[in-house]
Order: sequence, then structure tokens, then C-alpha cells
Amino acid sequence: MKFFADTAEIADIRELADAGLLDGVTTNPSLIKKSGRDFIEVVTEIAGVVSGPVSAEVVATEHKAMMKEAEKLRKIATNIVIKVPLTPDGLKTCKALTGEGTMVNVTLCFSANQALLAGKAGASFISPFVGRLDDIGQSGMELISDIRQIYDNYDFPTEILVASVRNPIHVLDAAKLGADVMTAPPAVIWSLFKHPLTDAGLESFLKDWAATGQKIA
Ligand code: E4P
Repeated sequence: MKFFADTAEIADIRELADAGLLDGVTTNPSLIKKSGRDFIEVVTEIAGVVSGPVSAEVVATEHKAMMKEAEKLRKIATNIVIKVPLTPDGLKTCKALTGEGTMVNVTLCFSANQALLAGKAGASFISPFVGRLDDIGQSGMELISDIRQIYDNYDFPTEILVASVRNPIHVLDAAKLGADVMTAPPAVIWSLFKHPLTDAGLESFLKDWAATGQKIA
């Protein structure tokens, strides 16, 4: 499963990329607001640090205006993925852009039927928001399982990009269900390292090593 960072914070992106943990980045208007930076400037910087897909979201809601925004965004770099909402205009834009060879991430997916529509529109990625579904008492992972089954039934090449990931259990469940990608805040990715037995084991090994008085290098 590929790991994307769901952030517009360049320092966090660099840190994950340096650790070899980063396959791509997703941004959205709220993350841009949080960064306090100019959208085009920050996306250009991210696309320079990460060689994998970098999602940049349109904010227009009508097809022609979406195409105009996409035109500007895709010129930034070849690894820019245009992110469109799961609306009729969004999917029309998806169809047009993928037809021109531009990667598209269809976002704000909350049902399997919506994912089916995105697959038919030729989306490169579908982003089901698992955390936001869990928040309202519905199962985000049940949605991932349904989409996996539907895409496999019909050999849709659209990659399932599990979004709104909030914790390590989401990552584990997404991987067990065969999701292609998950996007998470950097803190969630780093939390995957954590296990108390790893910390305790390392501490006791280092203590015993110090007692030998030896050095390796
Ligand atoms: C996905 O691309 C979105 O940017 C993101 O995962 C939304 O997550 P949230 O529900 O935590 O805002």
C-alpha cells in the first residue's frame, strides 16, 4: 500500500520523504488555509520535493471553470494530480482531464455507488473519507471493502486512496482490505513505528551493551 501525506507543511513532507516513507501528497483547501501559504507556491514546492503524485484541488464548482483551474494547476509539474469533488461537474471534468492524460483524484466520496461513478469516469484515484464516516456512526472500512469488491469485479484501474485517516487502526484495516493508497497526517504515519515492547527491548539491549564496555565503531 502506498503512503501519501495529507498535509501542505513542507517540513513534514521533507522529513517523511527523507525517511523513505512517502509515495505522494494530498492537499485540500482546508490544509492550504492551515499552512497560511499561497496555494500555487506551496504546491509547486511540494511537487519539487516529492516525485510521486501530488493532489491539488480545484475550488470551482462548474465544469468550465474547473477546467480553467485544472489547466493552471497541471502546468505546475508533471506529477500534479487534479482533485475534483464527486459531483456531476466534477466527474465531467474528470473524464475530460483523464482523456487528455492528466491524473485525477475524485474526492469527497462517501458511498460505493459514488465510487462506481468515479471509476466509470476514468478517475486515477478515488478518495473515500473513512474518518468522517466513522464520525457520524457509519463504517468507513465497510465502504473500502465494498469499493474494493466493485472495482475488482469490473477490473477498474482506479486506485482506492483511503482518506480522512485518523489513526493506526485505519492504516492497518486499509492495508488488510487491499486499498492501493492511504493518505494520512504525518503524525499518524510516524505513529506506526510505536510499540512499547520495541522501546523496552531497545532500552535493555543498550543497557546490556554498555555493561560489556565494547564499541562497534
Ligand atoms: C483527502 O484527500 C483529504 O484531504 C483528507 O484526507 C480529509 O481528512 P479529514 O477528514 O481529516 O479532514
